[in-house]
Amino acid sequence: MRKLFLAAALCALAFSPVTVSADNPIVIKFSHVVAPDTPKGKGSEKFKELAEKYTNGRVKVEVYHNSTLYKDKEELEALQLGAVQMLAPSNSKFGPIGVKEFEVFDLPYILPDVTALRKVTNGPLGKKLLTLLEPKGMIGLAYWDNGFKQMSANKPLRTPADYQGLKFRIQSSKVLEAQFRALGAVPQVMAFSEVYQALQTGVVDGQENTPSNMYTQKMNEVQKYITHTDHGYIGYVVVVNKQFWDGLPADIRGQLEKAMNEATDYTNEISQKENADAFEAIKKSGTSTILELTAAEKTAMRQAMEPVYKEMASRLGQGVIDEFLKETGGATH
Ligand code: LMR
Repeated sequence: MRKLFLAAALCALAFSPVTVSADNPIVIKFSHVVAPDTPKGKGSEKFKELAEKYTNGRVKVEVYHNSTLYKDKEELEALQLGAVQMLAPSNSKFGPIGVKEFEVFDLPYILPDVTALRKVTNGPLGKKLLTLLEPKGMIGLAYWDNGFKQMSANKPLRTPADYQGLKFRIQSSKVLEAQFRALGAVPQVMAFSEVYQALQTGVVDGQENTPSNMYTQKMNEVQKYITHTDHGYIGYVVVVNKQFWDGLPADIRGQLEKAMNEATDYTNEISQKENADAFEAIKKSGTSTILELTAAEKTAMRQAMEPVYKEMASRLGQGVIDEFLKETGGATH
């Protein structure tokens, strides 16, 4: 009798309708590490606007920019624990939670252009990579762009020899570690929020990032030289806590998917211009000398980093690298 009563009570609890309303909304905490005035910052605000509109306020999205809630390393753990519901970490940051295949995006010169990128992210490889996230307790909803990376330091970086012995801040990716080692440099993993100070105090000598990330963190103010290399790419996977997402009322989830699709189109439409504008703003600020490489210097950089592909094949899986290159027609940048 007691057992029955308990079962009935549990049943009633499980099926009692959740009253989600504008007065009692579902809250989505969306945490990320970059500034509001970047492709990801603007994309997260666009998602908030659309999600709240399409659900008539039944969902409230709280966006936390600039690592105000979590730093790089903590944010994926917080998502797995359900302390935050939504993030958009760069592809480079999934290695430490055991999804190292995303580091394929970090291979030097792997992406010739944005058209090739879309083929990867919208094609079968993009979809397959997202499925690897589910056993980790998260769902990958979308790929968001940032852009191509540039190198910076307090000395001119033109050829691989210029990198010899310099310390470079990297994201937590073994591919990026191998990339800087291939240049004879010393890579150092560090949270994004700590880069400016590390450059300012000389804890590291240089770094690589997109113009929008450099400019909004004022990195150009503490780096005398920026080399226009476009040697790599930074993009994101928007991820949600799986249990949270699966537990949402279906109609609300549908509206949120619609909001995410539109926010994705918006982010990926503005990303190139955002970075071009930021690069212009850096040039105008006069803080740093911008170096353009000659054809011979570009070739030397590519050749120096070429061994990273072989070196990382066992980590990433040669199949993933080949599939990626098939989508790009074998072309690299
Ligand atoms: C970085 O750590 O450099 C980037 O992943 C930051 C970001 O989210 O764009």
